[in-house]
Amino acid sequence: MAPAPKHHRIALIPGDGIGGEVIEAGWSVLQAAANRFGFVLTGETFPWSCEHYLRHGRMMPEDGIAQLRAFSAIYLGAVGWPQRVPDSVSLHGLLLPIRKAFDLYVNARPHRLLAGVRGPLRAEAFDILCIRENTEGEYSGAGGRVHQGTAAEVAVETSVFTRRGIERILRYAFLQARGRGGRLASVTKSNAQKHSMVFWDEVTEAVAADYPDVEVTRYHVDAIAARFITDPASLDVVVASNLFGDILTDIGAAIQGGLGFAASANLNPEGGVPSMFEPVHGSAPDIAGQGRANPLATIWSGALMLAHLGETAAADAVMAAVEAVTARSTVMTPDQGGTASTAAVAAAVTAALGAAADRRT
Ligand code: NAI
Ligand code: MG
Repeated sequence: MAPAPKHHRIALIPGDGIGGEVIEAGWSVLQAAANRFGFVLTGETFPWSCEHYLRHGRMMPEDGIAQLRAFSAIYLGAVGWPQRVPDSVSLHGLLLPIRKAFDLYVNARPHRLLAGVRGPLRAEAFDILCIRENTEGEYSGAGGRVHQGTAAEVAVETSVFTRRGIERILRYAFLQARGRGGRLASVTKSNAQKHSMVFWDEVTEAVAADYPDVEVTRYHVDAIAARFITDPASLDVVVASNLFGDILTDIGAAIQGGLGFAASANLNPEGGVPSMFEPVHGSAPDIAGQGRANPLATIWSGALMLAHLGETAAADAVMAAVEAVTARSTVMTPDQGGTASTAAVAAAVTAALGAAADRRT
């Protein structure tokens, strides 16, 4: 008897705006990959969104986190409908609680130019993997305001860095560097921020002793921001705090051709909880419902999910299929100067996936 195929249960959260369109497109490609590579992906869709909020007064049900816990991974589109629900409500009611509950402390974002895609730089080849700390640092939320509305008003926002928090993000980054080019860039501002960032540098030095095969270079955030533009090919794996990573990954998205390509993974590398995979872009209300959203960022995020689930051959095949489509440049959405629909791009990727698999067998 043949062994039962591997089975992964995925929680699908399309969210708002183009979220539903890109998740439908991405899921169709992932299903095709599962068929080709002999594993099973079952999806359960959760309609948690601003629509859900307007109807029920909550972005997700009270036991939403408990419902998600049993899944292998979460595949999320985008959340936000700023005309009807304040962004602070939608973000704090769904995305942030998921990241927090499952301690998804790694935010990983690949930045490279896909074949045929023209970015804004002259640089042709770069392949940067940004590892952003996702739970503490400058976005810990610690602080307060006093004397509001008076001339004596004071606002304090405190960064919180813990040894555990720094060490675990660094260890993950060192491992990624080991699996790639063996080079790691650690981002700080330890000349100006003499407490938290000097601490980060010290922990980097201590952790580096366990990875003697990885060459680690320290950069100040302003210098590396410039380097993303002037010499991106000199960078491989980049690890940064929450705020610095946030800013650098927007530069990364820009130089790789824009939000249509920027993919992300929110990971808990220890496992036991679902990690979450989502395009970096938002719900794009300006183009929602028109079938013209670029699905490639979501498809790429889906490939990151397959890799995380251990389906690396399928993940590689999805990316090869994406690049077969971008290299031809004939089936592209309007943001890339084409006229194809979201569904047409997904269908082209699926077709390329089939063609590649046929060649192999
Ligand atoms: P956005 O990323 O939704 O859109 C910015 C611009 O990029 C728009 O012109 C949009 O049409 C375009 N764009 C974005 N994704 C695209 C795609 N796949 N294909 C083609 N064009 C694309 O950012 P915006 O407008 O600032 O935010 C809209 C809503 O999304 C807000 O409610 C915001 O809070 C939310 N948001 C949610 C995120 C998430 O769920 N992780 C991330 C960023 C924003
Ligand atoms: Mg950002």
